[in-house]
Amino acid sequence: MATIFSGIQPSGIITLGNYLGAMKQFVELQDDYNCYFCIVNQHAITVPQDPSTLRENSRRLAALYLAVGLDPSKITLFIQSEVPAHAKLGWIMMCTAYLGELERMTQFKDKAQGRGEAIPGGLLVYPPLMAADILLYNTNLVPVGDDQKQHLELTRDLAERFNKRYGEVFTIPEIRVPKVGARIMSLQDPGKKMSKSDPNPGGFISMLDDEKTIVQKVKRAQTDSDNQIHYNPEEKPAISNLLSIYSLCSGKSIDELEQQYQGVGYGQFKSDLAEAILQTMRPIQQRFNELYHSSALDDILDQGAEKANSVANQTLQKVEQAMGM
Ligand code: ADP
Ligand code: NA
Repeated sequence: MATIFSGIQPSGIITLGNYLGAMKQFVELQDDYNCYFCIVNQHAITVPQDPSTLRENSRRLAALYLAVGLDPSKITLFIQSEVPAHAKLGWIMMCTAYLGELERMTQFKDKAQGRGEAIPGGLLVYPPLMAADILLYNTNLVPVGDDQKQHLELTRDLAERFNKRYGEVFTIPEIRVPKVGARIMSLQDPGKKMSKSDPNPGGFISMLDDEKTIVQKVKRAQTDSDNQIHYNPEEKPAISNLLSIYSLCSGKSIDELEQQYQGVGYGQFKSDLAEAILQTMRPIQQRFNELYHSSALDDILDQGAEKANSVANQTLQKVEQAMGM
């Protein structure tokens, strides 16, 4: 059975973008792959986090992973900092990477912008840590959103560079990006991806937003100037984004939706879209509420860490041996 690894940062409450771009595919893949899903809290601290909020967000993310339909008997769910091999191999991958290629990462450039001298070093070396996360599990496939493509290419480069120097230690992973939903955009700025770290909460729908908030955010979402519900990401990015969300939540194709809304105004479209989102979220939120306060969640994370540690330590040992450590 091939292996999948994917991580999500507990840097906020996960968004509908994280769900549609990443988590939804996880559920489809769990039966056919050996899956590792990681709460990457060491990535979250690349920018300062409030300690109690970070703790809470990690637990919320764990509960959400299960609430969307991942079955702990089929997958390994764990918290990154509970598996020390990540930081250890992360260091080795930092030593494998070149400064030039790290500075070229577009996410680094975006996140470093406006910080002057005070750019946390972690923002620069986050991609080699991500490479370590993936390579520790002999991962074959990494299901992610579009924004992670560049980091995945770097992961492959680092793994190949290492293998050339020290022998065939690492499996070279492939990326898997969904056909629709790979890049859900902000509701307030269709030029920006929807992100949980967006300071404007109107730009994203959190998976734990209440119904009223969701309806309001959809109502206030940007549209384009004409009144046509037509899919054209270049010329009509705002409405195209809403159509993608609608399609993924309802299971109807974009063509079908375009036909259904011919001659219908944005108002009606938005209220139907909000309902489609609510229908997706209601069962997830209900399961979340059951899981969040249960001690079963702690047991699942403990078991996950145990399994992850045993696999990751084997890889780390191979790496260190190959390097003469
Ligand atoms: P965020 O930017 O919200 O902090 P993460 O960096 O934790 O998200 O990414 C977690 C997963 O969600 C990754 O697989 C990423 O590609 C995916 N993802 C993040 N934002 C989006 C989005 N707007 N649309 C689709 N997928 C996304
Ligand atoms: Na990210």
